[in-house]
Parts: sequence; structure tokens; C-alpha cells
Amino acid sequence: MDERAPESLQQQIEDRLRYYEDLGIRLFYRDRTAATVAASPSHAVPNAVHTSAIQESSLPKPIAKPFFPKAPAAAVPPRIEPLVAPSAPSLFESVNKIKDDTLLKIREDIGDCTRCELHKGRNKIVFGDGNPKAELVFIGEGPGADEDAQGLPFVGRAGKLLTQMIEAMGLQRRDVYICNVVKCRPPENRAPEPDEVTTCSPYLLRQIDVIKPKVIVCLGAVAAKTLLETTRGISQFRGQWLEWRGHKLMATYHPAYLLRNPNAKGEVWKDLQKVMAELGLQPPKKSKSS
Ligand code: URA
Repeated sequence: MDERAPESLQQQIEDRLRYYEDLGIRLFYRDRTAATVAASPSHAVPNAVHTSAIQESSLPKPIAKPFFPKAPAAAVPPRIEPLVAPSAPSLFESVNKIKDDTLLKIREDIGDCTRCELHKGRNKIVFGDGNPKAELVFIGEGPGADEDAQGLPFVGRAGKLLTQMIEAMGLQRRDVYICNVVKCRPPENRAPEPDEVTTCSPYLLRQIDVIKPKVIVCLGAVAAKTLLETTRGISQFRGQWLEWRGHKLMATYHPAYLLRNPNAKGEVWKDLQKVMAELGLQPPKKSKSS
């Protein structure tokens, strides 16, 4: 019997697996018990083997919404849930508060950094960019090739999409602050290693302490897991308001993920609408000619 799923289902499964991989989930098993038993009751399934055909209807349906919807932002009451257990040792608690700290001082302290391996392959340190008094800060993972070449965050393909997202919120890039967990490009765009994150995080924390944004948006699992100091998958808290050191924090998908999975744009737009409601923002009015 041909056990392959129909092509459309196959595609959906592949997309979904890529999505889980993006979230850092790499181990899967198939539980066929229910479907196999229902389909062929005469075939006993050994207890040890958990298998089940994936039903098309059981896959979560992507929300296919346009990125620039006409409806105004919905006012969603914030739901604040701390993720870090109070007893857990916090990386951020150990960072000394610097009196009268400024972004300039932080940049000077970073200097021509050689504190971790990432310095070996970098061209430019990507410190951060935007309004030093921004109410909204976006935090990504780490610079890619374009960012490494220009010394600016989110200027490549994912960056262009982030710019569109910001503009869809009725803002310009210069209104917000954009930075990353690590400030040097990881080789071949791999995820930063824990020691690299630990080394660089104090500077990120200082940046946030100086800017004092009302809202932080973590773009992708690396930023979310770093700030929240959690191993929980981003899908467990994406789109929810969380409390982080006195700021409202929301995790959403990384724009690079959206480039590969445009169907997820609707979910991100919903998250950004919550941010807009929190900041009292309205989407820009479309001109008559557009
Ligand atoms: N991806 C990131 O996480 N950060 C950037 O600056 C660019 C791409």
C-alpha cells in the first residue's frame, strides 16, 4: 500500500515541520495508533510502536490574512504572565546597573569586541539602530550577511519585511529601536551558541535599560528564549503579553520565518495589532490613489 500522503498534505506537513524546526523543535514521532486501529481493527499494533496517520483536518490551519488589513487594530487586554520562575538564577540579574548609562557608553564598552568566537568572522559589529527613546524595541537574533557588511540591523531581505511590518503599524523605522541578541554575525547564519548569547546579553540588557521601551517585541525563538530565560517553545507563548523587567513583552515569528512561510503573516499581524493597541497606534490611512 502506498503510505505517502497526498501532495498538498505532504506540502503542508513539510511546511509545518519547517515551522517547528524554526521554533527549535526537531524531534518528532508519529502516533498511528488511533487511525491505524480505526482503519484496520484486525491488525494489532504493538504497544511499543506509536504511530498514527496525520489527518489533513487535524493540521492547524494557517490564518491567511493580508499583511495590511483594512480593519483597525483590535483592543486586546494584555495578559501578563511571568515565565521565569522566581527561584531561577537570572542571567540579567547578575548584570551590574551602570549609573547614567547611555547607548554611547555601551557602544564604547563593547569596543572592538573579542569576548567570544563570533568576532573572528565578523566585518562590523551591529550594535542597534533607531530612536534611543523608542517606546517600542524589536529584538532579533543576530546579524546576517547584509547587516554584517553595513553594521546595521535588519537591512537584508528579512529587514525589508520588518520595515514593512513597522510601516503597517503606522510607524517608521526611525520611531522604533531595532537590535539583536548577539552583535556579531554567527558563521553561516547559524543560531548563536549559549556562551555567545551569555557574553553579549549584558549589552542588550543595558540597551533596554537605557531606552526604557514600553513594549519589547522579540522576533523569533532565540530572542524570546534569551530574554525570558526559558526553554519553552515560542509557540507556547507567541502573541501573549508577558511581563519582563517592567516592560511588556511579546514574542512573535521572525521575519525570516515569514519569508519562508508567508501564511504565518496573519498571525504576526494579529500580534502586532495587540502592540498597536497597547501603544495607541492606528494603521496608516491608505491614500486614494493606492
Ligand atoms: N536577522 C536577525 O535576527 N537580525 C538581523 O539584524 C537580521 C536578520
